[in-house]
Amino acid sequence: MSALAMFGGPQAVTPGTIDGSWPVVTELDEQAVLRVLRSGRLTSASAGETEVAALESAWSNLVGTDYCVAVSSGTAALQAALSALDIGPGDEVVLPALSMNATAHAVLQVGATPVFADIEPDTYNLSVDRARDAITPRTGALLPVHLHGLPAEMDGLSTVANDRSIPIVEDAAQSHGALHRGKATGALGTLGCFSLHPSKNLPSCGEGGLITTDSPELYDALTKIRNFGERVPTGARGYVALRSGSNFRMSPVMAAFARSQLERMPWYMKHREQSVTGLLARLAELPGLRVPLVAKNSTHAWHIVRIGLVPEELELTDVSVSTLRATLHRILRAEGVPVSRYQTAPLPAHPAFRAPGTRAARIAAEFPVSCATVEASLCLQRRHLAPDSGPLLAAYADAFEKVWAHLGVVRRMARSRPPEGDWRDIMEVD
Ligand SMILES: Cc1ncc(COP(=O)(O)O)c(C=O)c1O
Repeated sequence: MSALAMFGGPQAVTPGTIDGSWPVVTELDEQAVLRVLRSGRLTSASAGETEVAALESAWSNLVGTDYCVAVSSGTAALQAALSALDIGPGDEVVLPALSMNATAHAVLQVGATPVFADIEPDTYNLSVDRARDAITPRTGALLPVHLHGLPAEMDGLSTVANDRSIPIVEDAAQSHGALHRGKATGALGTLGCFSLHPSKNLPSCGEGGLITTDSPELYDALTKIRNFGERVPTGARGYVALRSGSNFRMSPVMAAFARSQLERMPWYMKHREQSVTGLLARLAELPGLRVPLVAKNSTHAWHIVRIGLVPEELELTDVSVSTLRATLHRILRAEGVPVSRYQTAPLPAHPAFRAPGTRAARIAAEFPVSCATVEASLCLQRRHLAPDSGPLLAAYADAFEKVWAHLGVVRRMARSRPPEGDWRDIMEVD
């Protein structure tokens, strides 16, 4: 086995030989964008504009809902969904302590209070028991996230929500095409919210979001909320604000590009499943690594691949897990594996979401699994999304195996480096 790249050996992933860039932009995507530019219909409010409606119809068909409303981003989708449910000041929304911060921002932006609940250690998704504990008479909605592309535990969450007549808003920003009991995410709650950010499994060429629902009333509310509270004009625009709203409209350029991508999404999903599961089968053989679980009755969209670290199996319990993670991060990156930290702290630790004076000890006690997860895992993002990423992921597996052949060096490096700080240091909470 060659020396680690950090110490002058050859990189396991040869730079520049394998592309793996995402999104894949084809000539068809370019033509779709050009079609809009040449039409002159540059906003969804332009007379005769059909691109946005065509994407909505294609997406509701795929998800299996009666309606879809396209908006300007995934965050706008969440905010509009909560507004459509009339959630606002005085209401609480229960959401997982581990997610992208947009999930919590949307709650704050409608004036409601985010109430965090811890996640499950094996799925990284909202714990049903902790969500149940977090419900109060003021709870206006449950907001589970299908984190990394794995559907949340919707059987248990639906029971909890139905018992109390609370709607579920799915944050499906990361889970395009993932199924639970054969039903797509976005069709599992009252409303489903997707992101079309270019990093997502269904990308636009900028920003975008989609909201799915079976409710005609919510559909009607959403079409107004995204458009200044106005009714969709059948003739001349009236400019009458019937309810509070915003400008959350999707650009036709984004819609045309995303619909062109959508044509290939099933094919991309098939290839991704093969290449990601191929990588994970090899990583599962290495001590000290936990590959993601695919929960029973679910499929995984593999938006992000989170790899857990188990220091005991690496005989490295005398350094903190953060120090071990930082050591592996450095060594793997030197080998050409772009491991990253997806979220460096649980949401309740962020200054934007924590009550003044909240102590770190309280956050650690209330959200132990989320705190442990951000410290004891590394993620792969984006590069595995392209259909030809199989050889790249195989090279990543080679790199992990190479590093694991040098575990003695890894241990020495971990023991000799200064201890790594954790989420408390990043969020400046003590
Ligand atoms: C779980 C989750 N929710 C919401 C969002 C927000 O989506 P957008 O960036 O399109 O506003 C994201 C985007 O990264 C996300 O990952």
